[in-house]
Amino acid sequence: MIGVAVLGSTGSIGLSTLDVLGRHPERFQVVALTANRNAELLAEQCRCYRPAVAAMADPAAARRLQSLLAGMSGAPEVLAGIEGLEQVAALPQAPYVMAAIVGAAGLRPSLAAARAGKRVLLANKEALVMAGALFMDAVAESGAELLPIDSEHNAIFQCLPTGFRAGLAQVGVAQILLTASGGPFRDWSVEQIAAVTPEQACAHPVWSMGRKISVDSATLMNKGLEVIEACWLFGTGPERVTVVVHPQSTVHSLVQYKDGSVLAEMGNPDMRTPIAHALAWPERFDSGVAPLDLVALGRLDFQAPDPGRFPCLRLAFEAARAGDSAPLVLNASNEVAVAAFLEGRVGFPGIARVVEETLASSPAQAVVGQDLAFLIDLDRRARATAEQLIATGSV
Ligand SMILES: NC(=O)c1ccc[n+]([C@@H]2O[C@H](COP(=O)([O-])OP(=O)(O)OC[C@H]3O[C@@H](n4cnc5c(N)ncnc54)[C@H](OP(=O)(O)O)[C@@H]3O)[C@@H](O)[C@H]2O)c1
Repeated sequence: MIGVAVLGSTGSIGLSTLDVLGRHPERFQVVALTANRNAELLAEQCRCYRPAVAAMADPAAARRLQSLLAGMSGAPEVLAGIEGLEQVAALPQAPYVMAAIVGAAGLRPSLAAARAGKRVLLANKEALVMAGALFMDAVAESGAELLPIDSEHNAIFQCLPTGFRAGLAQVGVAQILLTASGGPFRDWSVEQIAAVTPEQACAHPVWSMGRKISVDSATLMNKGLEVIEACWLFGTGPERVTVVVHPQSTVHSLVQYKDGSVLAEMGNPDMRTPIAHALAWPERFDSGVAPLDLVALGRLDFQAPDPGRFPCLRLAFEAARAGDSAPLVLNASNEVAVAAFLEGRVGFPGIARVVEETLASSPAQAVVGQDLAFLIDLDRRARATAEQLIATGSV
């Protein structure tokens, strides 16, 4: 039995992970579950999966969880706060950790899992965007196994030879081709995009996801964050990463080799496939996903992204090329801008403007070799700048 800790178990990736784990009870034991505020759902999951530990980032929610579980035989130990999440990520009984907290809030727990030498199933892409050097150093030093959960990066991982960490050029890779569904506004005009509502932005045509990543998918910032994530995961620069819009989301990404060969990973768009892949790797087992029916699908379309209508993708490529603190500032200002958009405080095009203005007013800082406290302080300052831009209505 392999012990698994699921960080962010009440979210979209968390639920898919529990679904896959539930299909293999002879192989996995759920050791710990975490959430932020959703004590009701976490209590339900505790009754179903009977973990030894449950943690909530919000201390009041942790108290509510404790009272919801009162009287349960074999109730889990309840931990609270960011330290509780870090403790869960490093539990010796859980050699596998699903890192599925959304946003910068996932950095400390994801890093704790990496430092503890776990098999880290990384969905929390923001951790790599914010602290790629620190995170990859922690993986190398502890001997952790880093397996990507983003369907695109999982696809690339599957299409690369095992020795890819020696360098992509050494293994003959010419380009990484990241596919993007294009989001719900792929074919909308600039005028239509200007009037997008939060409900429209959260209704993704193909993938069912949390609200933050749904908005990121609609702005194409999600693809931009994934470009930066790919650079860290596969040890390359952005010049070797190309984004291709593929509305059917059937080809999850591709690797183009120097000899002209292009390897793709395909399947139905369901996150249980990359989750099952990373749990079973290097073996394969059932994920619950229906087999792909190519004849029913009929066709696969590809087109170039339009950075004019979707400036977030351009901003992310610029941040990736600039390096230093730019990706961290991009991520922090985007999180602030997306939250403001969901609360009706900025319009949809305002998200890109907040990010662009925050980047322009944040002096570049070298981040390689810096510690977590330094990065968290930079993140805090970028958030304050973004909040001020929104509050003064200057975007
Ligand atoms: N959804 C997808 O299909 C998908 C695909 C690829 C990658 N990802 C990545 O996976 C991550 C999770 O995405 P998601 O769509 O599953 O998000 P989600 O549905 O919004 O779930 C987020 C999870 O994180 C918890 N959480 C939120 N804020 C937190 C905080 N401050 N401290 C601790 N925990 C917190 C939530 O708990 P509560 O329920 O209590 O709020 C929930 O369990 C993101 O980084 C995303 O980019 C997602």
